[in-house]
Amino acid sequence: MAHSTLGSRGPLSPLAHPGTPVHEDGGRLHPTRWLASAWQSRHCGWSSLPHLPISAGPGTRIAREPGARLEVGGKLLLGYQHMNIGQDRFRGLPTALDLGSDSRFEVPGYASIGPGVGIAVSAGARFSIGDGSYITADATILCTSEVTIGRECALAWGLMIMDTDFHEVVRADRPWRDRAPVHIGDHVWVGAQVTILKGVTIGDGAVIAARSVVTHDVPARTLVGGNPAEAIRTDIDWRE
Ligand SMILES: CC(C)(COP(=O)(O)OP(=O)(O)OC[C@H]1O[C@@H](n2cnc3c(N)ncnc32)[C@H](O)[C@@H]1OP(=O)(O)O)[C@@H](O)C(=O)NCCC(=O)NCCS
Repeated sequence: MAHSTLGSRGPLSPLAHPGTPVHEDGGRLHPTRWLASAWQSRHCGWSSLPHLPISAGPGTRIAREPGARLEVGGKLLLGYQHMNIGQDRFRGLPTALDLGSDSRFEVPGYASIGPGVGIAVSAGARFSIGDGSYITADATILCTSEVTIGRECALAWGLMIMDTDFHEVVRADRPWRDRAPVHIGDHVWVGAQVTILKGVTIGDGAVIAARSVVTHDVPARTLVGGNPAEAIRTDIDWRE
């Protein structure tokens, strides 16, 4: 399988230079961004500040309640759009991480969370995003139990992930399942404006077509689409 690599994403991509945060124009990190990055990196612990684990745009906000842990092994880019297209449309939109008490937000490698992305992790819940994965822009992830995103995933504009329905459809024949984890495997491509609902597991190498509503598990290397999403093709691969 031809997995994408960090280095294959073009010279202007911040993820192409994981050790050296760059501005969208490919220049050195602007002083305003350096200050924003230093300020937000304090959430990873003051001792990690010299490594600047977070590279943030000025509009970025991280709210962390007591006991919440933000763990960045490599680098977390916040507020940069990964794709070099349509940047003016999203430039300056605030990126917000809300970490409830005793929650965990894990970035073991290098990941990019673009402008206008909001990720809320409730008290005691866990969110993780793997090495080389990115969320382009304008997305919402509401995590009340667990949401995990694997390595080298491409998550497009307008994504919505919820691991709960928030309200109950009252039924006599079945107890309410108020929340259930969402797991996205490695090398998954999620198209624009996709919604992924509670309890869904997406297998490695799968592709989710634009505007799909995913209500059931997706097998590995399968293209699904529609509302609710159904298999369109099997044994597929994709690349950037
Ligand atoms: C509508 C909803 C609450 C129903 O959840 P549920 O009780 O687990 O669903 P049910 O078990 O009764 O029904 C599941 C079936 O409906 C389908 N389905 C569920 N949600 C669907 C959706 N949004 N669009 C299309 N089909 C949907 C499932 O594929 C499944 O089909 P199947 O029976 O053929 O396998 C849930 O699917 C949903 O849309 N949640 C999001 C709610 C939301 O937006 N909350 C925001 C805060 S207000």
